[in-house]
Amino acid sequence: MTKHLTRAQTDLAARLLAGGDLVAFPTETVYGLGANARSDTAVAGIFEAKGRPSFNPLIVHLPDLDSAREIAVFDDAAHALASAFWPGPLSLVLPLRPDAGISALVTAGLPSIAVRVPAHEMARDILRRAGCPVAAPSANLSGMISPTTAAHVLAGLGGRIAAVIDGGPCAVGLESTIVSTNPLRLLRPGGLPQSALEACLGERVAGHAETDPITAPGQLLSHYAPRSAIRLEAGQAAPGEIMIGFGASPGQFNLSPAGDLTEAAANLFAMLHLADAAAQAQGMSLAVAPVPQHGLGIAINDRLKRAAA
Ligand code: TXA
Ligand code: MG
Repeated sequence: MTKHLTRAQTDLAARLLAGGDLVAFPTETVYGLGANARSDTAVAGIFEAKGRPSFNPLIVHLPDLDSAREIAVFDDAAHALASAFWPGPLSLVLPLRPDAGISALVTAGLPSIAVRVPAHEMARDILRRAGCPVAAPSANLSGMISPTTAAHVLAGLGGRIAAVIDGGPCAVGLESTIVSTNPLRLLRPGGLPQSALEACLGERVAGHAETDPITAPGQLLSHYAPRSAIRLEAGQAAPGEIMIGFGASPGQFNLSPAGDLTEAAANLFAMLHLADAAAQAQGMSLAVAPVPQHGLGIAINDRLKRAAA
């Protein structure tokens, strides 16, 4: 049985985590499936519960910059980004300190590590109380849509993990933006727009190049997959399709009637969950309206492309 904890129970969640149990917790991006990053057994449990290929490295969550410095080496750019955007939806891929004491399963044996300080107050409270770095991928079965509510977590992982702590719906709704600083690369578009990174650093942040030594494994094309077929850039629903609209475009669902990309990001995964369930129940498929390719729209389109692959 998976315990459904309330927001008053962060202390229990922290104790379970520190003791090696798997606990799903809210962050501002999506719900994470946490495990003590120092414990091989606990981290292995993440891969088992998610049914995830074990070559994907995990993001380590910390309560503040000082604790992140204990496990990763920050250069000037990393320091500037962390100071500007932490706590928040940004993960930094940096050299791993050899003495960090992190399970090699977390980094998939890489000499680098992804670190992040989440902004959600409950997440930070749990991380402070747990007193250990917490590895946390999104709290869904591998390949399924990312969870933005505790109910999503239970639908996928109920019975497979010790507990989920309920912090309501996630405010951002998209996974964190992942950046490496040496070389400076955007490894995954996400909840922090690329333009914000570039404004902070005063230089362009290129996407991943084939020749780069650092890659973001786990960026498999088919990811975030609903069960129903999806048609993108749809002007309107064809017969047999359930439409997810955006802005003025019509649809049974609408990511943001006002055409607001922040609202659309927050609604994206929950709406995919709902529309997918409706389509499955009625033997239909999904059509999604075009979403502008700027700001958070870049990350939204990235997730939609993967959902449709
Ligand atoms: O918003 C988020 O980032 C959420 C919440 C829970 O914090 N977490 C999340 O984790 O999205 P996950 O496991 O779904 O994404 C981890 C991705 C990996 O697939 C990989 O692309 C990248 O982070 N990554 C992790 N460690 C890396 C490393 N050492 N080098 C390159 N990429 C790395
Ligand atoms: Mg994920």
